[in-house]
Amino acid sequence: MVEVRVRGRNFASARLAVWRSFLALRFHEDPMRVADELTLGLGRASSLAVLPSNSQSGWRESNPHLNLGGVARFHYATPACSRSSDKQPARSDSILRVVLTDSDVLRAFPGIKDIADARLRKLSIDVWRSVSERNPAWTDIEAIPPHPTMPIAIHGNLVKHVVAMVRISEALVPIYRELWKQDLDLDTFRAASYVHDAAKVIEFVEKDGVVAAIPGYNHAIEAARIVRELGGPEPLAHVVEAHSFAGALVVPRTRDAQLFLMLDPMCLNVFPEQGLGVVERHLKANGWDDPKTLERYRSPGA
Ligand SMILES: [Fe+2]
Ligand SMILES: [Fe+2]
Repeated sequence: MVEVRVRGRNFASARLAVWRSFLALRFHEDPMRVADELTLGLGRASSLAVLPSNSQSGWRESNPHLNLGGVARFHYATPACSRSSDKQPARSDSILRVVLTDSDVLRAFPGIKDIADARLRKLSIDVWRSVSERNPAWTDIEAIPPHPTMPIAIHGNLVKHVVAMVRISEALVPIYRELWKQDLDLDTFRAASYVHDAAKVIEFVEKDGVVAAIPGYNHAIEAARIVRELGGPEPLAHVVEAHSFAGALVVPRTRDAQLFLMLDPMCLNVFPEQGLGVVERHLKANGWDDPKTLERYRSPGA
């Protein structure tokens, strides 16, 4: 039995891969040799493999009996994981993997169409497509939580966080113009909102049956790297890389980056009444949960 996995940057490479895989299966070729040939022929940009099931690392369809709240349909299996999954019933069919399309992104974020600058509109979609190619496990953007420790049922999904950032940006622009004559560029704030957390698609993986964040992975810095790779404006890339208090902080060097950093935690439905609030979570994420400021404070006048 073999499992066919296809992932390509474009339709042509995916079609070639599917055709070559079909021939390999039809004529009972050595799967490892075919996998090597395709890797060499198609390069790293389009990955394809015809693999003996459970024989090595790779993305596998998740056990449908695991309760993941529907957040992940596939997981990255190590050889050790594969051995344990040998206990599952064998699959006789094949899996044709797909990545997020423009329509998938626009369905989750219809407001992207409101971005006036066509390049930023395209960038907002392309960043999501790019992260999806690097981890095709997430086939439904609506199913992504803000963080694996923030269940959607309690805190809402990542889409709501992004939409909140867009809406507050829209409110911010006229306020800053009226009060301080600061002309914020709404397109920049909208595009930053749409792309800033996209690398969570790469960061959140299924491990031992549950969705977890890859330790040490900084989705802010990685998203900015993708923005730059795709030719996005440098000021926007900086806004993205400096958007998070979690993990290594990139100090904001611009007005937009500073405001956006403040906006991000404000747009989370995560409050002390529900458990750990956003501020406490960020302190813990950086190992700053001690000192407990209020308990240690002594008023100079007392
Ligand atoms: Fe973030
Ligand atoms: Fe965010």
